[in-house]
Amino acid sequence: MKAIVKRIGHKGVFLKDIDFMENSGITVKTLYTGVCGTDREIANDMLPFIRAENGDELIIGHEAIGTVEDPGDSYLFKKGDLVVPMVRRPGKCQLCQIGHQDYCIDGDFVEAGIRGKNGFMRERFRENEKFLLKVEDKSIEEIGVLTEPTKNVMKIMETFRFLSSRIPWYCKDSTLSCKNLYIFGTGSEALLISFVFSTLGFNIFLVNRHPISDKIQSIIDSVGANFLDSSTQIYENKLSEYRPDVIIDAVGSSEILRKSVEKINNNGIIILFGTSGQLMEKNQDITGYIVDKNLTIAGSVDGSKENYREAIEFITSNKNRFPFRDLITGIGSPESIDKITKKDRDEIKYIIKW
Ligand code: BGC
Ligand code: ZN
Ligand code: ZN
Repeated sequence: MKAIVKRIGHKGVFLKDIDFMENSGITVKTLYTGVCGTDREIANDMLPFIRAENGDELIIGHEAIGTVEDPGDSYLFKKGDLVVPMVRRPGKCQLCQIGHQDYCIDGDFVEAGIRGKNGFMRERFRENEKFLLKVEDKSIEEIGVLTEPTKNVMKIMETFRFLSSRIPWYCKDSTLSCKNLYIFGTGSEALLISFVFSTLGFNIFLVNRHPISDKIQSIIDSVGANFLDSSTQIYENKLSEYRPDVIIDAVGSSEILRKSVEKINNNGIIILFGTSGQLMEKNQDITGYIVDKNLTIAGSVDGSKENYREAIEFITSNKNRFPFRDLITGIGSPESIDKITKKDRDEIKYIIKW
């Protein structure tokens, strides 16, 4: 069967004919796999922590949806079930052992398609039932591939709820409409964040350093959010007029962050998700600043099984409310290897149909 493979230490990825990698488990026929920034970094040999499961080749892909072809001896799944596999698998620490590998203490976990475990960019894979989630609504077969990136958003939401519970925030209409949320980034993850957080009523600004396509603008419009180009004077003005209460960084740009943090309101919350984010690395007085502003800063990566369930639930119940389908700007075949290495202009989410 076909698989998309990365040879560790070499640039690029390639299509390879492979056998089944696993001897047991539920056989899943892959329907779609999504391509994200992590995959592009792997393909361009820019991700330092990538590891093969065996030898020096890794099957990539961690955003997937498929159907059960053979449930094996599982009672939980049956042939034809729509399923989403989890990325991160537990190591031996206490947190991993209670299903919270997303809060792993010692880094001894593996991640399908990223570190130490073969991923899902292949026609079929076999999976332990523990790491599969059922998607009941068959109509979300295509947008269900967004479950994996959405589970990251669910963890961000969980983190936000936890952090904000220490602050008695109050808006007159009992939503968060008097609070300004700045999301850095206008890619698929940032847009998914805007979908999920718009349900709390926030006044939302999505920020990037460059202009955006009409399509992205219309998605932003449809959630009632605003776009701001951080390289313009308008951004500076808006930032002073609508000072941020919450900042969620999905790009890892310390430049945008530094500029915006200067204007954050007291009791502000900053959640960093962008992986190359280095907060104020040149600012010597960062600790005093954080204490004086009473800020809460949290890193957030990956999510729990519960976050996956929440993601499926969110997509299912909001499939007509948010333009999930518009996020998918391209559906290609496994043969189009170039699309994995290079992002098309105006691409939001590119997925592969298997
Ligand atoms: C995935 C996470 C994963 C992270 C780092 C992201 O693309 O969504 O689940 O933990 O990459 O490997
Ligand atoms: Zn990813
Ligand atoms: Zn662990």
